[in-house]
Amino acid sequence: MRILITGSRGLVGYHLWKAAQDRPWKVFLTGRGESPDEKSSYQRADLTQPAEIIQLLSWAQPDVVIHSAAMTLVDSCQENPALCWQHNVTSTQLLLEALRNYRPQTHFIFVSTDFVYDGFPKERRPYIEGDYEAPLSVYGASKLAAEAWVKTYPGPWAIARTALVYGWAPTLPRDNILLRVLNQLREDRPISLFTDQVRTPTWAADVATGLLLLAEKKGQGLYHLAGPDIETPFTFGEKVARTWNLPLDKLQPLTAEDFQPIAPRPPYSPLSIEKARALGYAPHPTEAALALLRNQL
Ligand SMILES: NC(=O)c1ccc[n+]([C@@H]2O[C@H](COP(=O)([O-])OP(=O)(O)OC[C@H]3O[C@@H](n4cnc5c(N)ncnc54)[C@H](OP(=O)(O)O)[C@@H]3O)[C@@H](O)[C@H]2O)c1
Repeated sequence: MRILITGSRGLVGYHLWKAAQDRPWKVFLTGRGESPDEKSSYQRADLTQPAEIIQLLSWAQPDVVIHSAAMTLVDSCQENPALCWQHNVTSTQLLLEALRNYRPQTHFIFVSTDFVYDGFPKERRPYIEGDYEAPLSVYGASKLAAEAWVKTYPGPWAIARTALVYGWAPTLPRDNILLRVLNQLREDRPISLFTDQVRTPTWAADVATGLLLLAEKKGQGLYHLAGPDIETPFTFGEKVARTWNLPLDKLQPLTAEDFQPIAPRPPYSPLSIEKARALGYAPHPTEAALALLRNQL
């Protein structure tokens, strides 16, 4: 099987590459910057450029595309909606059009987000696939619009929504909650973390394994691929501090009343992963994932 991973220099893409190396597959990577590793099969492509997509597909000739590339900074999307739409929606649309024309049997797996939900569910329970979507932010709206394009693809497709992804990669374009907490606490600096945003934080290695499971099992339709534990950024920060033996008193609770980020966030967006579990998805509990990461960071 030939698998093409977009966004391979990013957090999820890097872990996809790592996990795919253990499989008997031909793995092709793409991104805009330098190759994450000289031993990998990597081609640069800006996915907003149709000609670059055609070149990419004729090089990789994929049976599966996992599309993780996106503009992921939620506040930057809010400030630059046109740019966000170009990277998140247009690139997905162009990739799908090219596949439809050149590789119509390709299994297309799109990485999406819990931010497609507004965070005000009727009942306070984790969101399940098929629940009403109503993004609050430009980023969430762009991912939902991209999902709508995926649903028009005549070949096999899956949409995998993940949430608050944490971990490390050598070519990371941005930080994440784990690295932020570690950097601050190691420098003995305070860090403010929301106590009123409820999430299911996800280790990048777990979402990568889940995405490859979808590829292996030819999973189709909508899936949630998140971590198994419901946390706030604050409780997550406490677990990080305990795992690395760092001072808990530098963690400062923050609420929406204290601080409004540029882009509104859903207050409550944990994702139910029961559907993915039935396929064999078994993500690590937060503390177990952090214990494994402690050996690397
Ligand atoms: N991180 C989270 O907490 C989170 C939560 C929910 C969902 N997601 C979704 O998960 C996916 C992966 O997220 P991530 O955290 O791994 O992202 P990331 O670390 O920010 O990496 C995204 C990658 O996308 C690439 N990219 C952006 N625009 C591109 C374009 N026009 N053409 C080609 N490549 C482009 C960038 O490549 P270069 O580095 O080469 O420029 C970047 O490495 C995204 O679709 C995101 O929406 C993430």
